Amino acid sequence: MRFLVTGAGGQLGTDLGAVLPDAVGMTRAQLSIADRESVREAVEGFDVVLNCAADNAVDAAEANPEAAFAVNAEGAGNVAWACGLAGARLVHFSTNFVFDGSGSRPFTEADLPGALGAYGRSKLEGERRVLEMLPESLIVRSSGLFGAQGSAVKGGSFPQRIVMRAEAGEKLRVIDDQSLNPTYTRDLALGVVDLIDRGYTGVLHLVAGGCCTYWELAVEAVRLAGLAVEVEPISSAALGAPAPRPANGCLGSGRAQPLRHWREGLAAWWTEWSARRPLRTR
Ligand SMILES: NC(=O)c1ccc[n+]([C@@H]2O[C@H](COP(=O)([O-])OP(=O)(O)OC[C@H]3O[C@@H](n4cnc5c(N)ncnc54)[C@H](OP(=O)(O)O)[C@@H]3O)[C@@H](O)[C@H]2O)c1
Repeated sequence: MRFLVTGAGGQLGTDLGAVLPDAVGMTRAQLSIADRESVREAVEGFDVVLNCAADNAVDAAEANPEAAFAVNAEGAGNVAWACGLAGARLVHFSTNFVFDGSGSRPFTEADLPGALGAYGRSKLEGERRVLEMLPESLIVRSSGLFGAQGSAVKGGSFPQRIVMRAEAGEKLRVIDDQSLNPTYTRDLALGVVDLIDRGYTGVLHLVAGGCCTYWELAVEAVRLAGLAVEVEPISSAALGAPAPRPANGCLGSGRAQPLRHWREGLAAWWTEWSARRPLRTR
């Protein structure tokens, strides 16, 4: 099968490229999914398109929702439209931020979405357009992605930023009232390839096993890095981020088994990232 990965310069795109060495990857500089005609040309001749392109600037989306919608909703629709024309299968990615974070049990595919912020709404609208244009698409919702590549818009993945700040001697204060399934993008990439092989369609949740708070994740990242740094738990209100985020950001699935536990994924990430990261500056 001929695979095309859009948003190939991001965390998940990089790891899909690693697990699908014959795939063609297009970075944002090579293909903007907001440009409908370019997407149509790019998709021609491929059997499967993995749309990893997204605007993940959650806080910036509150001030400028149009920018997030242009990529996450219209862009997603463009990819689905082009896949329909080309006869390609589409795997599109979405997020736990489509849910409102109420309650304490993980959200499954059977739960009704209700995004709290502009980013979540843009991703939800992207899901809607994908399913409208190409109902046989596979939409994989995940949570708390981190990869060795790191997210450019956020200045690295969350554990990467935590370790670098701890090494720089910064005081670490991390929220302990929002939970997630921290999911290593290499694990997600392998899981997605398996879903494609097995012909899954529709909305499906695929995340690491276990669920934790950002504070627990930070503590584990610091421990893996062998740093004796205290991480102070704080509330979301004390952090004061512009965008509302789900307190309960945990996903579960009625359709697929979870990936390996987040602590195992994080350990694998640490091994990979610490081997290839730039030298420390102090
Ligand atoms: N990160 C998370 O915690 C998380 C959690 C759940 C679900 N997801 C979803 O999982 C998917 C992959 O996320 P990720 O963490 O790999 O994100 P990422 O690292 O931010 O990668 C997204 C990529 O898309 C590119 N991009 C932005 N606008 C584009 C456009 N108009 N056309 C083409 N490419 C564009 C970005 O380029 P630039 O860097 O140049 O902007 C970036 O390389 C996304 O659908 C995301 O919504 C992410």
